[in-house]
Amino acid sequence: MRLVLFGPPGAGKGTQAKRVQETFGIPQISTGDILREARKRGTELGCQAAGYMDRGELVPDDIILGLVRERLSRPDCGDGFVLDGFPRTLVQAEGLEGILREMGKPLDRVVCLVVPDDVIVRRLSARRVCERCGREYNLRTRPPKRDETCDLCGGRLVQRSDDRPETVRERLRVYREKTEPLRAFYLERGIWTEVDGVGDVDEVFGRIRKALEG
Ligand code: AP5
Repeated sequence: MRLVLFGPPGAGKGTQAKRVQETFGIPQISTGDILREARKRGTELGCQAAGYMDRGELVPDDIILGLVRERLSRPDCGDGFVLDGFPRTLVQAEGLEGILREMGKPLDRVVCLVVPDDVIVRRLSARRVCERCGREYNLRTRPPKRDETCDLCGGRLVQRSDDRPETVRERLRVYREKTEPLRAFYLERGIWTEVDGVGDVDEVFGRIRKALEG
């Protein structure tokens, strides 16, 4: 299965992509995670991306398409993949179509998680990440046992630099302007499905599964 999980920042794409990965045995490919890992390691890619990410802007299309092309060429993508946070612009959607055409493996489905802005802001303002091991928490839905401390390694929990309220607002603005228009692109191709992203994680996953298996 070749799938895109689509939706605004904080819609639950990463959370649900992990569930899809476990259930269907296909790798999750998150451009956001790849960029954050590159930043952590201080690679050239990480340095190029850092400023854009901290401002809530999109990283340039050529950088993103290069890293996705490389990732999709790896053997673990042979039986499919779930893309999370990509594509985000028309240029990226067209680029992906070209890459998959070359591979002879078109996309099967784009599932968009629909979540209102107030729920998004609530979710993202409560997200915390361990600065040592990277484990994610949510102060509302998945809190640590001890305040601001990682249950696994005792590291300090911090807020992602782009989860500050003003950056979340900018990410939502960029989503509406540059990413939401892809709905028409995929509707035209007959592979667009919308799923209600409000509710607990299991509930939302049940809806995705039904959409994929239906
Ligand atoms: P990226 O990491 O892709 O960020 P995003 O799309 O803004 O996604 P998030 O990780 O914030 O949200 P999500 O939808 O994955 O939700 P999650 O499951 O984490 O990108 C970051 C930046 O990198 C971009 O701004 C850009 O600069 C750059 N970038 C990345 N890809 C790019 C691209 N293709 N082109 C250009 N630039 C790119 O959940 C969020 C929170 O909600 C968590 O705390 C979670 O626990 C909680 N939660 C999830 N589901 C539920 C639920 N059902 N109920 C309650 N809480 C929930």
